[in-house]
Amino acid sequence: MSYNNIIFKVENNVATLTFNRPKALNALNNELIGELYTALEAVQHNEEIRVLILTGAGEKSFVAGADISELATFNPLQAKKFAELGHRAINKLQELPIPVIAAVNGFALGGGSEIALASDFIYASENAKFGFPEINLGLIPGFGGTQRAPRQIGKNMAKEMIFTGKIISARDAFDMGMVNKITPPETLMEDALKTAGMIVLKGKTSVRAAKQAINNGMDTDLATGCKIEIDAFSLCMASQDAREGTTAFLEKRKPEFKGDLCK
Ligand code: CAA
Repeated sequence: MSYNNIIFKVENNVATLTFNRPKALNALNNELIGELYTALEAVQHNEEIRVLILTGAGEKSFVAGADISELATFNPLQAKKFAELGHRAINKLQELPIPVIAAVNGFALGGGSEIALASDFIYASENAKFGFPEINLGLIPGFGGTQRAPRQIGKNMAKEMIFTGKIISARDAFDMGMVNKITPPETLMEDALKTAGMIVLKGKTSVRAAKQAINNGMDTDLATGCKIEIDAFSLCMASQDAREGTTAFLEKRKPEFKGDLCK
């Protein structure tokens, strides 16, 4: 599959998807969002892929939001279609069975922050910047920002960012718990790949079960979440990896997970 607006590659069980419109700071136009959805579907159905890393082409930007030259032409119905398309792709991203790391290498504004927040965690380069500047366009976030930001950084912090449109540094995003790690720009991908490599060595079933339990549990009350965990924990026991992990511990050796899914 060839793409016009993204670069997609798979190496050592890790897929890297690079938003690739550097002249427009990797802004999200209709075509790019369609390609993102197609690539995510491919990731979903490829069991070789164990982790997905998202990043942006060039040194300046991860994704500078929706493409404003397209937005400027929309009537409300076209805007609705566009927002639905974005939600579809970003929901697909969040619901991928495997971990997704956003390696944010510059501006993550509007739709860029929305993509980063739908990933499982964020590594940011020192020059990364986050924000929801839609208010400066007379708009609001349209790809889930009003919903995911309050859930992840707290309602009041999200409101301040969305009402003011202010752009915050990687350090501020780290301090509010939005970013897991800040790295020099030169080592951002190396750091993300290193963490992805650690995950690849774990059991396929258990990594997926952990992601599912956390995501599904966060959308519900604690008691229901705990039930979700009990089911996910028991499901892991059906995998060869759980046999291998526990046996290896008792035999005082390193486990060799074969990456099977439950049969
Ligand atoms: N859409 C379209 N083009 C964009 C863009 C965007 N979101 N962001 C940047 N570009 C383009 C610029 O128009 C410029 O193109 P030209 O060279 O052809 O003029 C090029 O990228 C470089 O940008 P700048 O010259 O502006 O670079 P800068 O370093 O001076 O500023 C910036 C960088 C602060 C990110 C600035 O470009 C900016 O404010 N961009 C818009 C950010 C924004 O408002 N994002 C939210 C979009 S709405 C949205 O995302 C809604 C949603 O939730 C789905």
